Amino acid sequence: MAEHDVVLEHVDKTFPGGVRAVIDFNAEIEHGEFVAMLGPSGCGKTTTLRMIGGLEEATSGRIYIAGQDVTDLPPSHRDTAMMFQSFALFPHRTVLQNVEFSLKMKGMEKVERARRVWEMVEMVGLGELAHRRPHDLSGGQQQRVALARALIGRPTVLLLDEPLGALDFNLRQTMMVELKKIQRELGITFIMVTHSQQEALSMADKVIVMSDAVIQQTGTSREIHEHPRTKFVAEFIGNNNLLKGTIKSRSGSVVFVESEDNLFYVRIPETMPHVEIGKETYFSVRADLMHTGDHPDMANRVEGSYVTTEFMGSLETNVFEVGSDTIVHVEQHRSVADHVYQMGEKETICWPADAGVLLETVTGVAERAEAE
Ligand SMILES: Nc1ncnc2c1ncn2[C@@H]1O[C@H](COP(=O)(O)OP(=O)(O)O)[C@@H](O)[C@H]1O
Ligand SMILES: [Mg+2]
Repeated sequence: MAEHDVVLEHVDKTFPGGVRAVIDFNAEIEHGEFVAMLGPSGCGKTTTLRMIGGLEEATSGRIYIAGQDVTDLPPSHRDTAMMFQSFALFPHRTVLQNVEFSLKMKGMEKVERARRVWEMVEMVGLGELAHRRPHDLSGGQQQRVALARALIGRPTVLLLDEPLGALDFNLRQTMMVELKKIQRELGITFIMVTHSQQEALSMADKVIVMSDAVIQQTGTSREIHEHPRTKFVAEFIGNNNLLKGTIKSRSGSVVFVESEDNLFYVRIPETMPHVEIGKETYFSVRADLMHTGDHPDMANRVEGSYVTTEFMGSLETNVFEVGSDTIVHVEQHRSVADHVYQMGEKETICWPADAGVLLETVTGVAERAEAE
């Protein structure tokens, strides 16, 4: 276990009132990794982060930091630091004094302390503002102070709870790059909680997608984006089309799924242990793998009725209704999608045999309660 900075094994959290906030959380986080826990509000991200930091007790399961079982240790005995969304800076102390505080508490000798503090203040780009107080700083600058303060003790792991949540759009874009750079330079493991898929996918080496107290999928940004494993991830991340049907038969790593009058080729991902013939299932097809017009080389086709068009940069997404209540998005480069559709116009939509992928369904706490 020594090669991992943080390990969570079957961690559960039920609050005294009975709320099950986290169910069977498992993760292995390597040294120097930037990990994002991503999911909608209330899914258990903050609770998980607080359990890692020792601010919240796990109901069951084990937590290891740098190979040591810390499950029963208080925060002060864990090699973690935490950065909150509300910066909680000391208003009457300067930048330097804010950053210096914890070292002073530890009784570090003055010259060494000053050297460390200046180094950190320079690293977060606040050298010229070192003698200012928080209310003379912008939101982004205050955030850098909070970051410097959290990092000054050189923790093994920095825990960040929605660190960019309070910043406006432009500043957030800048800080995303900055945070990532600082993390790389220091080589400290970062675990960041966010509900923004853009933040998670652009900053993290590893993303843990959560919903309703459970982990939906763990993977690199690319894996999560290009290979969603569950229905929730396919809906929550990226631009995926979600289709539903009944599994009719299987041939090797492909199943045939019947949906209304259509039969689709759908790939079985390697991670799926078995498929059940006759079962109702969801599968996803990325919007950029669907094509308008008839393509004889593609195995899947369906008739759609045009609804609207969305524009994003050089991409154009045409939206169609297929069957009775399914909407599909077809994302193409503007140069390919040169046709101007009329509302309700019929169009053929095609995708290759391996573009459709079967999805798993991971049930969260609400559905579990219903089933009990
Ligand atoms: N101290 C607490 N006591 C009781 N329930 C709590 C407490 N803290 C959080 N919860 C509940 O636990 C669930 C997960 O909360 P949280 O971890 O804060 O979610 P997130 O950070 O993903 O928004 C929510 O249903 C929330 O209401
Ligand atoms: Mg939270």
